[in-house]
Amino acid sequence: MFNVKLNNGKEMPIVGLGTFRSKPDDAYNAVKTALKNGYTHIDTAAIYRNEEAVGKAIFDSKLNREDLFITTKVWNTDQGYRNTIKAFNESLKKLNLDYVDLYLIHWFKGYELALDTYKALEYLYKQGKIKAIGVSNYNIHHLQYLLEHAEIKPMVNQVETHVYLQNHPLQEFCIKNGIQLEAYAPLMSSNIQDLLENETMKKIAKKHKKSVAQIAIKWLTERNIVVIPKSVTTSRIIQNIDIFNFSLDDDDMQEIRKLNQGRKFFPEFDNIDF
Ligand SMILES: NC(=O)c1ccc[n+]([C@@H]2O[C@H](COP(=O)([O-])OP(=O)(O)OC[C@H]3O[C@@H](n4cnc5c(N)ncnc54)[C@H](OP(=O)(O)O)[C@@H]3O)[C@@H](O)[C@H]2O)c1
Repeated sequence: MFNVKLNNGKEMPIVGLGTFRSKPDDAYNAVKTALKNGYTHIDTAAIYRNEEAVGKAIFDSKLNREDLFITTKVWNTDQGYRNTIKAFNESLKKLNLDYVDLYLIHWFKGYELALDTYKALEYLYKQGKIKAIGVSNYNIHHLQYLLEHAEIKPMVNQVETHVYLQNHPLQEFCIKNGIQLEAYAPLMSSNIQDLLENETMKKIAKKHKKSVAQIAIKWLTERNIVVIPKSVTTSRIIQNIDIFNFSLDDDDMQEIRKLNQGRKFFPEFDNIDF
């Protein structure tokens, strides 16, 4: 497994397992399958309502805690300094862990609230209960605000990123500011059929004797973007991490770049009503 290095020196595996919309039993099985098949990185969130199942799968897998990278996120209604600390402790308890590797603010809910919430993350980071802190669904202007006002630079920004929404300017900004970009919905989430039927992707997949999903994941890792494909299907979980035995060439990368449409399947960050 290839790791990226965050701005505090912490290593983060470039591929992890997503668990959005995975019901507890499915999440338990998926996490166990993943950990048995080379994954060390799991992404969950309080709002996914599967942290207990994820924690149980981690426990039952009997792996060394220090070899794992576990991410969870504070939900919108729990933002604010005190609420976030409370929500974090609840997540930690559900996950049955002493610390999490990465804790993210799930969505941007206004500048003032973001800063209060982020201060709680800084506090928990200093306590050693979180090994890396960051945000999710933040655009350049949100990140700029945090960089100007926060004490500790965010380490990660997790945003929707896939071949139809490539986020090149956001990635450039993140690189310039030492923030690791992490791609959610790398397979376009419930719109995955659009990806699987794309002719360019099918052609590149055939050329490398890989699946379209594997090409979509590899294209992100070639850009040094952390990627967390979700699956509850054993064969797909295994397939999605089997991407380290080939490379995409410049022609492949350029052809995929041309597929960018700036097309979002998830809400605009500034415009959420949840
Ligand atoms: N921060 C945020 O706001 C946010 C938002 C969305 C997601 N996320 C995180 O990012 C993760 C990934 O995003 P996502 O779950 O929305 O979507 P995704 O990973 O882009 O796509 C998941 C879908 O692809 C299918 N799939 C997976 N591997 C496949 C393969 N090799 N071949 C064919 N189909 C395949 C899955 O089906 P099966 O499961 O049935 O196999 C599922 O329907 C989430 O699980 C979550 O951890 C974060």
